[in-house]
Amino acid sequence: MKQVKLGLLGFGTVGGGTVEIINQTLSEIERRLGGYATLEIVQIAVRDLTKARSADTKNIPITNDPMAVVNNPEVDIVVELMGGTGLAKQCLETAIDNGKHIVTANKALIAEFGNELFAKAKAKNVIIAYEAAVAGGIPIIKALREGLAANKIEWLAGIINGTGNYILTEMQKPGADFAKVLKVAQDLGYAEADPTFDVEGIDAAHKLTILASIAFGIELQFDKVYTEGITKITAADIRFAQKLGYEIKHLGMASRTPNGYSLRVHPTLVPKTVLLSHVKGVMNAVMVQGNHVGPTLYNGPGAGAGPTASAVVADIIDIVRASSQDSAAQIPALGFALDQLQSAPV
Ligand code: NDP
Ligand code: HSE
Repeated sequence: MKQVKLGLLGFGTVGGGTVEIINQTLSEIERRLGGYATLEIVQIAVRDLTKARSADTKNIPITNDPMAVVNNPEVDIVVELMGGTGLAKQCLETAIDNGKHIVTANKALIAEFGNELFAKAKAKNVIIAYEAAVAGGIPIIKALREGLAANKIEWLAGIINGTGNYILTEMQKPGADFAKVLKVAQDLGYAEADPTFDVEGIDAAHKLTILASIAFGIELQFDKVYTEGITKITAADIRFAQKLGYEIKHLGMASRTPNGYSLRVHPTLVPKTVLLSHVKGVMNAVMVQGNHVGPTLYNGPGAGAGPTASAVVADIIDIVRASSQDSAAQIPALGFALDQLQSAPV
């Protein structure tokens, strides 16, 4: 069985979740890979070597030098879960130079520097996968790229920041305080390292940039997104909206216009008759209108360790499949290779 070796940059909320999933689900993952390959984490980079870790590292070497991981000749796939656009970008550039495939959850990096990173990766035949960068556990990138591939996407709209939706939901409770609710979202691992990104709409703008690029086949254009956050929304605004039959939701919306495209994120009055208005807490939901399929809706947890790591590991599996020479490993449609199907009472 081929051993695909992973180097993790980051062992925080998402990195810890990724290690947990691989520890708990490895045999299932191997079956999904047709028994052709298995995964092994061979090195992890963190900032603070003394910090206690919740996931069992099983004696995996841990370093405080991320470059050591991207330059480790053993590593086949670099899994970037550090965040930021400085060191993370340098690491990915070096990983590409070294011919290593990449999985990242870093929407800021993809939205702001994806155009150059993808061009560099293409020249080196390297895959960059980033399902976890948008809407946590919802496979929205796969849906746009694969499931809706026959369609011209007309527009998409959705709740794409879990922290913001969590805050707007909690603020419906009497006496809720914005700062305290944000602190809970941080403690739950939902918020960005700099939570301004969540509450000022920047994180949603990063994600909308990525979704629009895939939906419309356009370059990533983060600087073109009209961006407004939720910091000016008060509990009274929410109550008045509800009395009038609306919920206030922070939406990202991308559409075609006669002159190009419109990309915007801002608080929006959503009628209670519309499904998006019922999406609560950390849940995200994205509506996509395709010209053949019509309206479709994707819903699920938008942040947190398990949901985000679920998307990270799915990307790792995709890369192993895509780079495999073995047809048994390349059957994503079936999910399991035929000779791996088990008989069981139904
Ligand atoms: P955390 O802050 O929980 O974890 C970051 C990890 O990176 C930590 O282990 C930290 O080390 C390590 N790290 C940071 N800087 C360095 C450095 N200079 N050198 C070595 N290691 C470093 O972040 P998250 O797990 O929440 O987020 C990671 C990425 O995933 C971000 O890009 C984020 O936007 C994205 N994301 C997060 C989601 C979530 O729900 N949290 C959802 C979707 C995407 P140490 O532990 O020692 O501090
Ligand atoms: N901070 C982000 C959010 C994490 O709350 O949606 C998931 O991308």
